[in-house]
Amino acid sequence: MRILISGGAGFLASHLTDLLLEQGHQVIGVDNFITGQRENIAHLDDVDNYRFIEADVIEPLSISGSIDRIYHMASPASPIGYVKHQVATLKVNSQGTWNLLELAEKKKARFLMASTSECYGDPAVNPQSESYWGNVNPIGMRSMYDEAKRFSEACTMAYHRERGVDTRLIRIFNTYGPRMDPYDGRVVISFICQALNDEDITVFGDGRQTRSLCYVSDLVRGINLVMESDFVEPINLGNPSELTILDIAREVLALIPGSKSKIVHQPMPPDDPKVRCPDISRARKILGWEPVVTRSEGLAKMIEYYRDQLVRR
Ligand SMILES: NC(=O)c1ccc[n+]([C@@H]2O[C@H](COP(=O)([O-])OP(=O)(O)OC[C@H]3O[C@@H](n4cnc5c(N)ncnc54)[C@H](O)[C@@H]3O)[C@@H](O)[C@H]2O)c1
Repeated sequence: MRILISGGAGFLASHLTDLLLEQGHQVIGVDNFITGQRENIAHLDDVDNYRFIEADVIEPLSISGSIDRIYHMASPASPIGYVKHQVATLKVNSQGTWNLLELAEKKKARFLMASTSECYGDPAVNPQSESYWGNVNPIGMRSMYDEAKRFSEACTMAYHRERGVDTRLIRIFNTYGPRMDPYDGRVVISFICQALNDEDITVFGDGRQTRSLCYVSDLVRGINLVMESDFVEPINLGNPSELTILDIAREVLALIPGSKSKIVHQPMPPDDPKVRCPDISRARKILGWEPVVTRSEGLAKMIEYYRDQLVRR
């Protein structure tokens, strides 16, 4: 197949690209590098089946030839990223989604929207299943991301219902692994970099808020399975093993024995979710999917990758 991936130089999309190329497909990556990194796709420079287009998907894309699949992965994804680029985040998840749905309709391509667990906001139920409508502050410091993704979901379903576009919807929960931007403030990468650099490990609040961490290879396998399934409604993808932020800090420190870092506490940012855990019953039932990489394996792989990067710097 000929597959287009928006946000192709990002953390998740670069791993998804590797998977699709391994499966023998042709991949066209599109990115404007607002939060992505050129190094994430540097290994694809000489790959025949890969083509890269530097472009902003807020503008309509003109692509010659057929396209079979469109994965819409473009969007700042960390609180630091989307607060720094508030308008761009709203636009890529509105005008960008719209443009790519138009392209999907024109090319008769199947379209997958990468939405997020942030659609559930600061949830009043735990774990979150797809039937929960969420608890989102529409004007808060995360609204440019949460509400824009909710708009993207509505837009995807409207093109499906009214225009007959073949669409898929995923809600991704916290994912970690190599190629994350070390400076984008997401919890796992921040703790690993702090621990490797002997800096204080900064935990917000008392650290009892929870997260559930999925390793990137599990996640991209799930994204691909959703795309190739027949299921149109949203599917949660994430690892249901829930733990506190303080536990994440302790686990990272335990895996970096020589580190001189100490855990310190900082004020909670506004609207930070107190719990976050996916109910993945639907993914299990529809796709036969569940995560297989344990946290200790995943964290160890990631620590190795960033230790290597530190040495090379
Ligand atoms: N990683 C996670 O834990 C997680 C969780 C929930 C949802 N998601 C979603 O998955 C997708 C990928 O996230 P990620 O973690 O890889 O983030 P990332 O920042 O590494 O990747 C996003 C990519 O999109 C690109 N981009 C942004 N706006 C663009 C535009 N207008 N035109 C072209 N390219 C643009 C960025 O430059 C970047 O390369 C995002 O849509 C995000 O909302 C990720």
